[in-house]
Amino acid sequence: MTSQQDFDGQVVIVTGGGSGIGAACVRGFVSRGARAIVADFNLPAAERIAAEAGSKDRAAAVKVDVSDPPSVEAMVRFALETYGRLDVAVNNAGIGGEANQTGEYSIESWNRVINVNLNGVFYGMRYQIPAMLQSGGGAIVNMASILGSVGFATSSAYVAAKHGVVGLTKSAAIEYATQGIRVTSVGPGFIATPLIASNLDEAAQKSISDLHAMKRLGKAEEVAALVCFLASDEASFITGSYHVVDGGYTAQ
Ligand code: NAI
Repeated sequence: MTSQQDFDGQVVIVTGGGSGIGAACVRGFVSRGARAIVADFNLPAAERIAAEAGSKDRAAAVKVDVSDPPSVEAMVRFALETYGRLDVAVNNAGIGGEANQTGEYSIESWNRVINVNLNGVFYGMRYQIPAMLQSGGGAIVNMASILGSVGFATSSAYVAAKHGVVGLTKSAAIEYATQGIRVTSVGPGFIATPLIASNLDEAAQKSISDLHAMKRLGKAEEVAALVCFLASDEASFITGSYHVVDGGYTAQ
């Protein structure tokens, strides 16, 4: 069974930790004993979430642009310099992008979504894996989406990026399976976070809710619970796999 302090002594990086699902993950890990690096493009938001965790021994904020490799490398260096090791990484930062048909989708938005949502996950692992190998292994959880396994009209860049995250996760998992690093991906249904609130009006949120068998949006904490489980030792035989938390959306 889960012990309350099962991440005691462990260091966790959460990208996009300043809001929504990432912030809920930070709270989950810190409440279970971890020290967290709250990494976000929005530094004031990351600082707020880190401050909630209490003292600087529990959480520290750092600015990162996950689509920029030197920035991601600096984030991992910051974790090592601040807390001395890296045990868990949650590559969660992501954006929605333009809503448009593929035949009209702006090239600029396509490139931005792929850069943040797919390349950002690769850059994360590119620097997190060597850091984890230094201390004997770790766990990486990559934030995909239900749109990592099914399509969605007017979101081709997002859907392509999230399918890419699922595949990238599988390859990295196979490569490091015997070196103590587990890599998994998570597929949330639509979750009530600022990402949804800023892209969809109330009527659109209601019709999206109805697409889930449970007829509601998910909560960030419901995703964080799965992320914490996958990163914990309780998931010791789980790697390479994609796990939905979607109120029955993809079961239909
Ligand atoms: P959110 O908008 O509440 O939080 C995302 C955070 O990522 C923000 O703090 C933002 O500043 C940060 N961010 C954006 N671009 C960044 C960059 N280039 N570098 C560093 N940080 C950056 O979004 P939410 O809903 O919490 O989403 C988190 C992840 O979960 C995303 O990958 C999203 O695609 C995924 N997801 C969200 C779902 C939802 O319905 N909310 C459903 C399925 C997946």
